[in-house]
Amino acid sequence: MSSLQGKVALITGAGGRKGIGRSTALKLAALGADIAITDVARPQSDLPPQERGDQWRGIESVADEVRATGRECRTFVCDLSISAEISDLIDAVVEQFGKIDILVNNARAIIGKDRVPIWKLDEAEWQHFLDINLTAVYLATKFAAPHMIEHGQGGRIVNTASDASKRGKATGGAYSATKFGLLGLTQCAALDLAPHQITVNAVCPGSVNTDRMSYQEQAAAEEQGVPLETYRAQLVEQLGQANPLGRIIESEDVANLIAFLSSDEAAMITGQAYNVNGGTLFH
Ligand SMILES: NC(=O)c1ccc[n+]([C@@H]2O[C@H](COP(=O)([O-])OP(=O)(O)OC[C@H]3O[C@@H](n4cnc5c(N)ncnc54)[C@H](O)[C@@H]3O)[C@@H](O)[C@H]2O)c1
Repeated sequence: MSSLQGKVALITGAGGRKGIGRSTALKLAALGADIAITDVARPQSDLPPQERGDQWRGIESVADEVRATGRECRTFVCDLSISAEISDLIDAVVEQFGKIDILVNNARAIIGKDRVPIWKLDEAEWQHFLDINLTAVYLATKFAAPHMIEHGQGGRIVNTASDASKRGKATGGAYSATKFGLLGLTQCAALDLAPHQITVNAVCPGSVNTDRMSYQEQAAAEEQGVPLETYRAQLVEQLGQANPLGRIIESEDVANLIAFLSSDEAAMITGQAYNVNGGTLFH
C-alpha cells in the first residue's frame, strides 16, 4: 500500500484502549498520515473496566501512542449527538491541519440498553442510536465534504458499519436499523461525492475483540457473579472458537481494511460495504 504521507485523517470514537478507532489511528499514522482523533467525555461508569482509573486517558493516551510513531496527532472532545459540536469539530480540524483528506466515521452509541425486544425498546434509546450511529455520520460528512471539495484533491470517507448492517437479529432493532441505514447513506454519499473524486465506503466487522462497553454484558456478568473482564474473556474465547478462521476478529483486522480504503490504491472503489468477519457472513 502506498504511503499516506501528507494526508490528514480524522477518526471519531477513537478513545478506546482496544477500539477500532485507536487501531485505525495507529495504522494510518504508520502509513504516514497525521491524525485528528475525537471522542466524547464519558463518566467512569460508562467505560469498560480496563479503561477506568488513571491508567488510560482515552484519546489523550491514543495521541501519545500516535506521536511516539513520529506523526502529528491532535485530540478533540466532541459529543456527536450535538450538531453544532460536529460542525465545530470539522472547523477546528481544518483550522489546525489545513484540510481533511480522510474521514473515518467510527463512533457508535454505547450498546446494551437497546438489547431488548422491539416492543420494549425505549423511544429515547432508539433516538440516541439514530443520533450517534447515523445522524452524526450524515453531519460529519455534510460538514467535511465542502472542505474536501474546496481543497480539490479528492478524499476518502470510511464508515464503520457492522455485520448487523446486513443481518438482523432479535433485540438488535435499534443497532441494526442504524447500521443498515448507514449502508444506504454510504451508497448515496458515494454517488453525490464521486464527481469530486471523494470515495465513500463502509467496513462491516463481525464481533471484534475491543473490550467495548456493553450494559447488557455488564448485567450478564453481574447475574453470573463474575467480573465483567472474566465474562468478556469467556465471550471472546467462544467467538474465536465459533469463527471459521479460528479466532476472534481483532481491531487491527478492521483497521487494515480501513487503511486500504483510505489509500490511493482504492481510488476506483466507492459505495461498497466490505465484511471483515472471518467467514461468518458472505453478502
Ligand atoms: N466491537 C465490535 O464487536 C464491533 C462489531 C461490528 C461493528 N463495530 C463498529 O465498530 C465501531 C467501533 O466500535 P468499538 O467496539 O471499537 O468501539 P466502542 O463500541 O467502544 O465505541 C466507539 C466509540 O464511540 C464513542 N461514543 C459513544 N457515544 C458518543 C458520543 N455521544 N459522541 C462521540 N463519541 C461517542 C465511545 O466513547 C467510543 O470511544 C462502531 O461503529 C461499532 O458499531 C464494532
